[in-house]
Amino acid sequence: MYNRFKLVPPVIATGKKVFLCIIDKNDIPIIYETINDREVRKFLRDPDGFNYMDGELKWYENLVDHPETDRVFEIRSVQNDEFVGLIGLHKIDWKNSTAYVGYMSRKAFWGRGYMTEAVSLIDDYAFNDMGMRKLVSSVFEPNVASIKVLEKNGFKRSGTFREVQFLRDYGYVNEIHFDLLRKEWETIRGVNAEK
Ligand SMILES: CC(C)(COP(=O)(O)OP(=O)(O)OC[C@H]1O[C@@H](n2cnc3c(N)ncnc32)[C@H](O)[C@@H]1OP(=O)(O)O)[C@@H](O)C(=O)NCCC(=O)NCCS
Repeated sequence: MYNRFKLVPPVIATGKKVFLCIIDKNDIPIIYETINDREVRKFLRDPDGFNYMDGELKWYENLVDHPETDRVFEIRSVQNDEFVGLIGLHKIDWKNSTAYVGYMSRKAFWGRGYMTEAVSLIDDYAFNDMGMRKLVSSVFEPNVASIKVLEKNGFKRSGTFREVQFLRDYGYVNEIHFDLLRKEWETIRGVNAEK
């Protein structure tokens, strides 16, 4: 029965460890906390910066207004329905059927295979539900865990932009670009295998 005091955000995809759902506005404080965690930001584009709460609210409003270009979902744990992190499709290009995959999770959930599964779920959503043809992503070279997440999902290295970003402890680091073509994802999933 509809209960206006406890809205359940629509679920987009469910795996064994995590599920993806529409962002609940009430979760913006935990998103704000996560994105301002120094360790979470360590390999992101503005590692020494910070995000204001007002900026997070504007970011959310922008997502609400522009689902045609950016779709970001909460990653939640199947076991306890806890907020794990965010995963999204950005720069969605409908003409060329491409999108950029980005993600982050709270430290407490690192190393449990959660992001590997979350990326597999967003891949399925992008190729199955949105009819995408190619997904791209990029990682700063020292971010070994993120590289593993992409490679375990079949993403291939497409090139390296050299010395793109200054990171404390690493100096200027390379940005490695990855992509996954629809036909490769179909092979991984066994789509059309019977034909
Ligand atoms: C990078 C990140 C998404 C990885 O998420 P995760 O849920 O810990 O990843 P998984 O548990 O699925 O692990 C993927 C692989 O990386 C390995 N791994 C995890 N942390 C690692 C680390 N610090 N160093 C090396 N390998 C690591 C895991 O062991 C696993 O490999 P395996 O299956 O061979 O054992 C997470 O650490 C994160 O959100 N970091 C901050 C934000 C960020 O960097 N986002 C990505 C920007 S490109």
